[in-house]
Amino acid sequence: MSYEELEQKYLLPTYDKLPLVLVRGEGVHVYDDKGAKYLDFYGGHAVASTGHCHKDVVKAISDQAGKLIFYSNVCYNDARAEAAELVVKNAYAGSRSVFFCNSGTEANEAALKIARRATGRPRIIATTTGFHGRTIGSLSVTGGAKYRDPFPENLANLTEFVPFGEFEAVERALSPDVAAVIIEPVQSTGGVRVGNKRYYERLREMCSGNGCALIFDEVQTAFGRTGKMMAGQHWGVEPDICTTAKAAAGGVPIGMVILNEAIAGAPAPGEHASTFGGGPLAMAALKANLGVILKEKLADNAREMEMAIRDSLGANPLIRAIKGKGLLLGLDLNKDAKTVVAELLKRKIIVGSSGPADQIRLLPPLTIQPEHVRELRSALREIAK
Ligand SMILES: Cc1ncc(COP(=O)(O)O)c(C=O)c1O
Repeated sequence: MSYEELEQKYLLPTYDKLPLVLVRGEGVHVYDDKGAKYLDFYGGHAVASTGHCHKDVVKAISDQAGKLIFYSNVCYNDARAEAAELVVKNAYAGSRSVFFCNSGTEANEAALKIARRATGRPRIIATTTGFHGRTIGSLSVTGGAKYRDPFPENLANLTEFVPFGEFEAVERALSPDVAAVIIEPVQSTGGVRVGNKRYYERLREMCSGNGCALIFDEVQTAFGRTGKMMAGQHWGVEPDICTTAKAAAGGVPIGMVILNEAIAGAPAPGEHASTFGGGPLAMAALKANLGVILKEKLADNAREMEMAIRDSLGANPLIRAIKGKGLLLGLDLNKDAKTVVAELLKRKIIVGSSGPADQIRLLPPLTIQPEHVRELRSALREIAK
């Protein structure tokens, strides 16, 4: 049986798949089982921020695997201690502590629980187009009906959904029983959207005034992707709680909740835990990966490459608008996105689909260079003909 057939036979079919068997990655490229090379403008879904198999990350993982793969949080560990310091010092200026887990949705579950524990309040305000994960708690604050409606027995009766980008709607929804407002500072999966500076500033002021937590879900945006280390830094706005996952450990599963001073003490010992969170292997990968992002100034490169993409794709008649920030970009198309994803794949370029049927997403490694943007431009020009 082929690998496609084996997966189709034995895996739960929860994914719409591209017809590709990928077996190797190097920098901004991945290779299939027949040796064909693809330019990865999808980054394995915003994960490969330092490129595939960056040598520093590979070395850190293999060195750590030879020393200690795992030990529980009941003991201290050198890699965990150093990774925690690196995260807290390079996230927001007000960040004080971090809780490690294993995925984005697990980080959001923890953030919601911590906000409720810290405030003693039950309700959450979220956005109609936001995406926060697939487990029941995160799903309950995910706006898209497509994700939530098949599971009506979620906790959404405690959530009020408001349109992204409209602080007036948050103002109307805020009440003394609100524990948190949760947003992705740059929305991604439900359609790429960015608010204006006033939106973020007013959210910050209103949450402080109300005594609820402002949660930024930076599962996709943290650590350089938007052109700043953390997305809120574009607007000078800091959340009380920030969650992240995806790219942080170079592809090794990770999630984290980064807390500021006001809220850091909320869960008491024993009130929250995650067996594998903070495991030495993931911590070594995290430390090495963040080291690469800082050393190679990848946030700066993300900003430069965003400009290169906007300059070179802006005039393509296929593209109506380019949305997003840094290297989290949504291209609104005059054509069905599925067709364009397939046409690009024929030309050996991988891009992501998105919530709207006419949008594709670019989430490449932050290491891409002008020649890769030119390759994408030529392919999109051919498709537009
Ligand atoms: C903003 C955001 N939050 C949460 C998640 C869920 O992360 P995970 O799939 O690691 O649970 C995602 C995944 O795409 C995401 O984009």
